[in-house]
Amino acid sequence: AKLPLAPTPPMGWSSWNKFRCNITEDLIKQTADAMITSGMKDAGYVYVNIDDCWMAATRDANGDFQPDPVRFPGGIKALADYVHARGLKLGIYSSAGTKTCQGRPASLGHEQADARKFAEWEVDLLKYDNCNDAGVPAIERFTTMAEALAATGRPIVYSICEWGANKPWEWAGALGHYWRTTGDIADRWGSMVAIVDQQAGLEKFSGPNAWNDPDMLEVGNGGMTETEYRSHLSLWALLNAPLIAGNDVRTMSATTKDMLTNPEIIAIDQDWAGIQGHKISDNGDLEVWAKPLSGGGAAVVLFNRGPVGAEVATTAADLGLKAWTGYRVRDVWAGADTYTLGKVRASVPAHGSRMFVVKPGLPGKVPPAVAADVRTDT
Ligand code: GLA
Repeated sequence: AKLPLAPTPPMGWSSWNKFRCNITEDLIKQTADAMITSGMKDAGYVYVNIDDCWMAATRDANGDFQPDPVRFPGGIKALADYVHARGLKLGIYSSAGTKTCQGRPASLGHEQADARKFAEWEVDLLKYDNCNDAGVPAIERFTTMAEALAATGRPIVYSICEWGANKPWEWAGALGHYWRTTGDIADRWGSMVAIVDQQAGLEKFSGPNAWNDPDMLEVGNGGMTETEYRSHLSLWALLNAPLIAGNDVRTMSATTKDMLTNPEIIAIDQDWAGIQGHKISDNGDLEVWAKPLSGGGAAVVLFNRGPVGAEVATTAADLGLKAWTGYRVRDVWAGADTYTLGKVRASVPAHGSRMFVVKPGLPGKVPPAVAADVRTDT
């Protein structure tokens, strides 16, 4: 059976969004180093994931996977050692098909041998894609690899990249730790918002060790404004998304680094209650998304998807909070507190989000005791 390897949404980095097939072992090593020096690791980003195109054009004489000899001359085990020596974990990629999405060898019909290789190389995560399925039903293909991974005895996080094609939220939680709910993200506002729209209603399928995955982050890749990237990250945290950075962490700006490592945003994504947020109101371009937090508070995103700034408002009651005399409203991007008797409102720039944590509390007054928290994963 599946191991409980993702009690909170996994955090890390992947080569795909920025580098596509232009990857080498040096890139992976430099990225691992940069994860440490930039503070990404300390912020919680631990998986360093090699996406498509790491493998040679053909299997070896035994029919085994082999890394591209030019791009990965030292092999995957040496990379795993390098990454592990820095306290990070290594992720790898294959497809539940005859070829990967980029036409490289993939694992359909080779599941046991490939899973054994990944375990031998001491890989910690497998992203398993959906290209070139040879007409075999998705559940069958993704189950075969789940069983092959389990048979290795190595704890390997299993990321099911099925693009939402066959409602993976209904079956992938039995097999893997997170599953893609949509097609691929692109580094554009319209793509990010279209993905957000496809998350409504999926919240009930997500929880500890089984997360909806709205795809990897584009923060820092340059196709959106800083305001838009803040919306991207705010919404991903509210949705309990795996936070897999997709930028060049070796050269990122201070602004990008500060956004990705914001401890209050990460704490919302990683809240141990594991309850995914959802849309609670929708008024044209103005939306309110809320997420119950452990400890009796709620996170809220006031989201303005329109082209002009506007005020967006909600109330503590609509956020599902206990009735009380007043509430503390923490602006998580600004790092500042205000207080309210119940209304939560803010002006939100075009394409922007304001994110708050709201909980019962007033200066000098002791808030009501919150009923003992119950973890959902035990
Ligand atoms: C698919 C996946 C992407 C990426 C590419 C690699 O499109 O959805 O995330 O892994 O394949 O080819």
